[in-house]
Amino acid sequence: MRVLILGGDGYLGWPTAMAYANKGHEVCVVDNYLRRHLAVATSSEALMPNPNLNDRAEIWKSVAGETIWTVIGDCTDYRTISDVFKSFGPEVVIHYAEQPSAPYSMIDFDSARLTLSNNLETTLNVIWAVMEHAPECHIIKLGTMGEYGTPNIDIEEGWLEVEHKGRKQNFLYPRQAGSLYHTTKVLDTDLLWFYVRTHGLRVTDLMQGPVYGLSTEESDQDDRLLPNFHYDDIFGTVVNRFLVQAVAGIPLTVYGKGGQVRGYLNLKDTLQCVELAMNNPVEKGSLRILNQFTETFSVNELAEKVRRVGNGMGLDVEIKSIENPRKELEEHYYNPQHSGLLDLGLEPHYMTDDVVAEMLEKVLEYKDRIDGRKILPRVRWS
Ligand SMILES: NC(=O)c1ccc[n+]([C@@H]2O[C@H](COP(=O)([O-])OP(=O)(O)OC[C@H]3O[C@@H](n4cnc5c(N)ncnc54)[C@H](O)[C@@H]3O)[C@@H](O)[C@H]2O)c1
Repeated sequence: MRVLILGGDGYLGWPTAMAYANKGHEVCVVDNYLRRHLAVATSSEALMPNPNLNDRAEIWKSVAGETIWTVIGDCTDYRTISDVFKSFGPEVVIHYAEQPSAPYSMIDFDSARLTLSNNLETTLNVIWAVMEHAPECHIIKLGTMGEYGTPNIDIEEGWLEVEHKGRKQNFLYPRQAGSLYHTTKVLDTDLLWFYVRTHGLRVTDLMQGPVYGLSTEESDQDDRLLPNFHYDDIFGTVVNRFLVQAVAGIPLTVYGKGGQVRGYLNLKDTLQCVELAMNNPVEKGSLRILNQFTETFSVNELAEKVRRVGNGMGLDVEIKSIENPRKELEEHYYNPQHSGLLDLGLEPHYMTDDVVAEMLEKVLEYKDRIDGRKILPRVRWS
């Protein structure tokens, strides 16, 4: 297939590009380095050095002999994206090109405006480019489990049947996001659903939980091919922060009571899930929503896991609760459904002790580059 990956320099985009090129697909990636610029602007640089996108593509070519086409361009510019669609003619577009940090979106007005305009404009441009240049193209869009928030009822996969005064209809599951970033994802979903209804697009919206891991079949071949690994409070996930804190001898900082439960998945499973969506396209005029995670953990459970494995490796790991910089429930009901991807054939890689140990070992190799000043919360919700 001709696969267009928007946001191809990112944590998910780059491993996706290599994996699908490795499977014989023709892959084109687009990125404007927004993530790299924002990371520098907020002193949140990644732990491992990541060559730029063109260099990564060259390294990949020398390692695997395969070409990944690269375009350095801004997906909020319709002409850029339109030209790529016209010249590449994608059969599937994987849309990762968004500002993905909840804390970044909460810094100030400028960060809020950038997040809102970037994320919605890229999505609108993808929709129009498909309508104008590739109406058969399957849009695979990355949403987030954070769109649902933490309601006191089970979370369904995208839709909820509502019975009202004796009549029934399916609606998008009610969403109440906990940050402006997550709210842009809700708005993306509404935008996609609108154009599916009016213009017959084919869309899969993947409600993904936080992803962890650096190892894929392709990135394991050369450290210069590793995905971005951010460990700071703005672009790093809780898993990455805990791994780096464990290695640096800084107590693992649990926000508040630590009862916040989320659904996590291994990077290898993101690659599988997106591929399953790609190989099983939906009909035109359909919006398929799949909840993309494999297991749930509370923050306390994650901290305990990293402590146990770290101590077993001879690290001195402690856990410390700090005031929660976010506005979120610290103890809550959480029961999201996630059978759709399993039904399509997903074979999960779980967060075993071995997997945690492997991630700690990789971070240990780069211990000298850890900057402890980046880890504690610098952004507060209010
Ligand atoms: N990583 C996770 O745990 C996770 C979880 C849930 C959802 N997601 C979603 O998956 C997608 C990818 O996430 P990620 O972790 O790889 O983030 P990332 O920031 O590493 O990758 C996104 C890439 O998109 C690029 N980009 C952003 N705006 C762009 C624009 N206007 N034009 C061109 N390129 C642009 C960035 O430069 C970056 O390289 C995002 O939409 C994110 O919201 C990620």
